[in-house]
Amino acid sequence: MISEPLRNPLSLFDVRGKSAIVTGASGAFGRATALMLASLGATLTLAGGSAKELAEVAAEVESLGGRCITVPRRPDSLEDAQAMVDAALAAYGRLDQLVVASGYNKAGFIHEMKYEDWQAVMDANVRGAWFMAKAVGAHFIANQVKGKVLLMSSVRGRHGNVSGYTAYCTSKGATDALTRVLATEWAKHGITVNAIAPTVFRSKLTAWMFGDDELGQATKKRSLSRIPLGRLGEAEDLIGMALYLLSPASDFCTGQVMYVDGGYTAG
Ligand SMILES: NC(=O)c1ccc[n+]([C@@H]2O[C@H](COP(=O)([O-])OP(=O)(O)OC[C@H]3O[C@@H](n4cnc5c(N)ncnc54)[C@H](OP(=O)(O)O)[C@@H]3O)[C@@H](O)[C@H]2O)c1
Repeated sequence: MISEPLRNPLSLFDVRGKSAIVTGASGAFGRATALMLASLGATLTLAGGSAKELAEVAAEVESLGGRCITVPRRPDSLEDAQAMVDAALAAYGRLDQLVVASGYNKAGFIHEMKYEDWQAVMDANVRGAWFMAKAVGAHFIANQVKGKVLLMSSVRGRHGNVSGYTAYCTSKGATDALTRVLATEWAKHGITVNAIAPTVFRSKLTAWMFGDDELGQATKKRSLSRIPLGRLGEAEDLIGMALYLLSPASDFCTGQVMYVDGGYTAG
């Protein structure tokens, strides 16, 4: 007998009717993931610090025929994270997916940078993901939802960098560890947790590498010299992997850091 996934493989990517929270939804990856999910019939709770930018993404979602609400908050506290969960449940009566696309970097050499700058990067990239996982995970477990969690790591979780990345690399190494430990802790609930680890792709975060900034130019040139596919990424390069990790196609994949990096980590 031919099983349903073999007969109809695209059904593995069916996310129609699912409800997703996306933090950092105004950012390059958050926006692209939100639009991809909306195009495929998922409903969205878009979160981020700028109500104006969220409204712009919401208008794009609606232009695709999608449904979304906005929560103008960053995941700075458990209360913020819970507000996103409550809003999703109030709007759609269900919550199935979490995408933590909020993140931040402030480069600086350790002997010159302030502790507060290191802490701000750790708070945005690690503490925020932890609050989101805590609030969303509690809902998944209490309601027996076999949910999907997608975190954003980076090749910097594995590789150092000469451009003053002690905060960013440390935060992404922690993201990798958080991915693995949540995956193992929640496996018995059927919840999967994975991360995407890109190399440099165009976004607000990396705008300094696409302009005239000298350190940015040098960083971009060095990154490019290490990427076998010969270019930096665009947000659209990541959404195929995002769909895989947020759909039934990845039901037997958990605790993985998926490199979407043009071959950077292969070399
Ligand atoms: N771009 C790259 O080359 C690259 C490479 C590897 C990994 N990543 C990771 O991918 C994720 C998404 O980044 P992106 O490239 O899409 O960047 P982005 O376009 O700058 O989007 C990130 C979003 O995070 C929010 N944010 C900014 N500062 C924050 C803070 N201190 N606390 C909480 N939220 C904050 C912003 O939204 P609001 O201002 O509206 O809150 C922003 O829209 C991040 O985790 C990043 O580290 C990016």
